[in-house]
Amino acid sequence: MSFNKITPAIIKQIQKIVGESYVLYDNENLLNYGHDETEDFVYKPEIVVKPNTAKEISEILILANNELIPVTPRGAGTGLSGGALPIYGGISLSMERFNQILEIDERNLQATVEPGVINEVFQNEVKKVGLFYPPDPASKGSCFLGGNVAESSGGPKCVKYGTTKDYILNLEVVLPTGEIIYTGANTLKNSTGYNITQLMVGSEGTLGIVTKIIVRLLPNPKYNLLMLVPFRSLDEAATAVSDVFRAGFIPSALELMERDALVWVSRFVESKTVKLPDDIHAHLLIEVDGNDLDVLMREMEAIAELMTKYNVDDILFADSEAQKEELWKLRRRINEAVKSNAVSKEQDTVVPRAELPKLVRGVKDIGAKYNFKSVGYGHAGDGNLHIRIIKGDLTNEQWNGQYIKDAIAEIFILCKKLGGTISGEHGVGLIQQEYMGIVFAQKALELQKGIKKTFDPNGILNPGKMFG
Ligand code: LAC
Ligand code: ZN
Repeated sequence: MSFNKITPAIIKQIQKIVGESYVLYDNENLLNYGHDETEDFVYKPEIVVKPNTAKEISEILILANNELIPVTPRGAGTGLSGGALPIYGGISLSMERFNQILEIDERNLQATVEPGVINEVFQNEVKKVGLFYPPDPASKGSCFLGGNVAESSGGPKCVKYGTTKDYILNLEVVLPTGEIIYTGANTLKNSTGYNITQLMVGSEGTLGIVTKIIVRLLPNPKYNLLMLVPFRSLDEAATAVSDVFRAGFIPSALELMERDALVWVSRFVESKTVKLPDDIHAHLLIEVDGNDLDVLMREMEAIAELMTKYNVDDILFADSEAQKEELWKLRRRINEAVKSNAVSKEQDTVVPRAELPKLVRGVKDIGAKYNFKSVGYGHAGDGNLHIRIIKGDLTNEQWNGQYIKDAIAEIFILCKKLGGTISGEHGVGLIQQEYMGIVFAQKALELQKGIKKTFDPNGILNPGKMFG
């Protein structure tokens, strides 16, 4: 791909569009906007631009399109596949000033929000009026809803309630060629034309810049109960997952945490809540929610009973809101803890739920073959396991070269064989694109590239992502 550099004259034009104080090019800012939460990549943009309206974005994109300047949209920078990395330089287009909740429509159980609103801020606002926005990525305290749309993000609640895609009704989008469109309608049903709304969801900022998001909301369930089940083997924990659903229950979270994940996160957040005797190798964290506490108690007991078929240790039933919060904190901060504890690469594997035992066994076999350890955690109820491969004794050459890529490819070939794919909720971005051929036929990839070309004929928007 060949792009042009940003000249002082172009900077002047952009300053005119957004105002001088919203165009940054000092080294510190370029570094800050040059990384996200994906491993330790840094790709500095040439400038950072912080627009405030769809019209400003439209003018910037028209300019960038004419001048062949790459534009990389950016939310909160919490992404785990490198989607916000400006790998060709150019403009990092930060959406941080789009931070308004424009309307909470209690009559229709809908809301209109800007993409720079923090997920948890939005969740808390709608809760105040008895409503519920379920998608809850581990980074919910800092990630933006726009980033959630870009990646079709998930989180623990998605096993019962679905991921971001299931809540997006309509979007206002600025196209790379500058037009501002709505993709659909503010309705729960819509069979009118191609579904551009859902095409935008998960498109990782490669097709357009979302400037307004219309979401559907649910009534907030009144109660939830939480338990932590210790297993003596990872295999048994993974096997127990599908029993819960087959017995007729849909928990509001069913998370798996391998031993090392809990050991490291307990140390990381200095928590002694979870006892970790030597013979415990994995835990399931199971939540049920609803409006009738008695029903939930019975569900919890029935699920606990199902678990006794396995060789489990004492189940911890959270008996206070503080204890629930503590357990959730441990779960949510695993990714950070593992990252800070060891050099690692994360794979966002996903398979049909009942294939999870085959996935965890297969990954350990691949680890034995390539001499790496791994730690798994995540949304087992969705068959979506985050697997962090630990560098450990591998040489830098093995870690940075074809050796580890071959190992990762084997993991993804296994996912595909089991009916799964290479990302459940983190996206393809920069780091998984070379594995797309494992899960898509050539023709399916060509169709996707054709769609990109239709939206973005000059390829200026988030270049180098998804397909390279
Ligand atoms: C989590 C993030 C990594 O579930 O998706 O912890
Ligand atoms: Zn996750």
